[in-house]
Amino acid sequence: MEVIDDLIKQFLKELDYQPILEMLVNVRSGKKLRSKLLLAISGETKEAFKICATIELIHLASLLHDDIIDESNLRRGSKSVNYEFGTKNALMLGDILYSKAFYELSQMNAKYASIISDAVVKLAIGELMDVNLSKSFNTDKEKYLTMIYNKTAILIEASAKCGAILAGLDENSFGEYGKNLGLAFQMIDDILDIKGDDEILGKPAMADFKEGKATLPYIYLFESLDKQGKNQLKNLFKKDLDEEEKIWIKTQFKQKEILEKAILEAKKYATNAVNAIQKYSNQKLINIVEAMIDRNF
Ligand code: FPP
Ligand code: MG
Repeated sequence: MEVIDDLIKQFLKELDYQPILEMLVNVRSGKKLRSKLLLAISGETKEAFKICATIELIHLASLLHDDIIDESNLRRGSKSVNYEFGTKNALMLGDILYSKAFYELSQMNAKYASIISDAVVKLAIGELMDVNLSKSFNTDKEKYLTMIYNKTAILIEASAKCGAILAGLDENSFGEYGKNLGLAFQMIDDILDIKGDDEILGKPAMADFKEGKATLPYIYLFESLDKQGKNQLKNLFKKDLDEEEKIWIKTQFKQKEILEKAILEAKKYATNAVNAIQKYSNQKLINIVEAMIDRNF
């Protein structure tokens, strides 16, 4: 992962504008799930590292824009760029990172830029779906699944496909692996928002519902409640919850065993991911799935 971080630093230095580096100085390096799985498929080559660096830059750009949209003050345990430097700076920094990444991809075989640019269009559509779904309490699981496929799984799927092409392997099987891993990843993220701890998560816990995001556990909870409970939950949607209201939601989650149900659903997609690449017996890819399910941030 250090090689990728060094490449990113090199790309950013080439832009030759000091405020870019200053704004990124406190941005902590992420888990690099996309790079880990790409390299686990392709093996460690110079070309693979370069694609990883561009994917991480695009991912970071999308998080900068997402924090503006979600009005988040915290990212990876530090002040978000929009909070520290303002929306205008965070917006342009995202554009810069995104464009630099595509410049670098344009210098390589066109198929990588083609897969990744197609994914980024869908990524933005996914974010738009998220924004639109947040207008009212979404209780439709299918809509949630389509949204998280676009918002999160698509770039993970693209990373897996690029890894497969680099190694001369079947793009579709590995794409299927990435897609299912990505869906499970976002479900776990949405579960952690409820059961996680601010400090460990590096962002405020229980923030989704206030932001208007009725994620999988909230959809399941809604389904399990009686009429009065449903109304009560709807009344808390998008509200700044006080302690009593948070406790009510958490108690309902516990009584109805909702998080367990959501974890089972995430595990279903995790199993699909492993099955998609079974014949390649790649233990690293299986370990990535397991670590992703077992994580606490
Ligand atoms: C995090 O979701 C957001 C994403 C995974 C994708 C965001 C995508 C965009 C803003 C659009 C495209 C960007 C570019 C550069 C063209 P979340 O809010 O559920 O997760 P969080 O809790 O980590 O904020
Ligand atoms: Mg967000």
